[in-house]
Amino acid sequence: MIFDKMSLKSRTAFVTGAAHGIGKACAIALAEAGADVAVADLKDTVSATAEQIREIGGRAISMTADITDEKQIRECMDRVVREWGKLDICFCNAGTFQDVPAEEMPLEEFERVIRVNLTGAFITARAAGKIMIEKGIPGSIVLTASMSGHIANIPQCQCAYNASKAGVIMLGKSLAVEWARYGIRINTISPGYIRTWSDEPLKPEEVGTSNFEQWTPLRRFGQAEELQGLVVYLAGDTSGFVTGSDYVIDGGYTAF
Ligand SMILES: NC(=O)c1ccc[n+]([C@@H]2O[C@H](COP(=O)([O-])OP(=O)(O)OC[C@H]3O[C@@H](n4cnc5c(N)ncnc54)[C@H](O)[C@@H]3O)[C@@H](O)[C@H]2O)c1
Repeated sequence: MIFDKMSLKSRTAFVTGAAHGIGKACAIALAEAGADVAVADLKDTVSATAEQIREIGGRAISMTADITDEKQIRECMDRVVREWGKLDICFCNAGTFQDVPAEEMPLEEFERVIRVNLTGAFITARAAGKIMIEKGIPGSIVLTASMSGHIANIPQCQCAYNASKAGVIMLGKSLAVEWARYGIRINTISPGYIRTWSDEPLKPEEVGTSNFEQWTPLRRFGQAEELQGLVVYLAGDTSGFVTGSDYVIDGGYTAF
């Protein structure tokens, strides 16, 4: 049965940026699909994600770590291997944002965004890949890029963000080609506007009023939960022939 084939039972997963938003929703989905899930974030509120996973009967480890610090990320992965023996799935999702006109942006700000979004994704994916290669695990690595890796959004000024996410898409393709010989698959997801910046639901009179919603053919923001199915699919065996691909989930924003 297809749901059995999609099961992640006896798999172990590592998710970054799991304290909130897309990372949290997808960490919970991986656990619901049967995986043991280690969650990491800069914020210690990531422990609440682990708690939620335990409440639904899953196994979870929570760790605070900065994805730009290779030593910290390696220590996180080592702990997963020490406690659970292996690593099958890595969701490199943590990221940051900027909105500064290019002509005014301090170089440090440009470099910060590239460091977190692109170098951080590389540090995390490489640490996972090294474990998978060493242990002969045909794992799955999923990176969170963005529709902004495909188009330059307006009106916000986010050239560093856009460039970093375009870089994540090509990083995914490059690793997919390099690590195909180990049976490791790497794919990227490119969300459109997912309303993670507020936990408050929109008031009924506010729904559909922003440019972001009006420029989206489905006329609404996406929810973090709407990325769960794709991440579970990419993590598991039913996507076995999928590697080096990018999946846009944007309510149609980039379709025209
Ligand atoms: N929300 C959107 O509209 C949208 C669209 C496209 C792509 N994305 C991407 O999705 C990913 C998740 O974003 P989100 O919308 O869930 O935002 P979010 O702010 O809800 O979650 C991001 C999490 O990453 C963590 N984080 C940030 N920097 C970190 C670091 N250096 N080390 C470890 N953790 C760090 C934060 O603490 C936070 O918990 C990001 O890569 C983001 O760029 C978001």
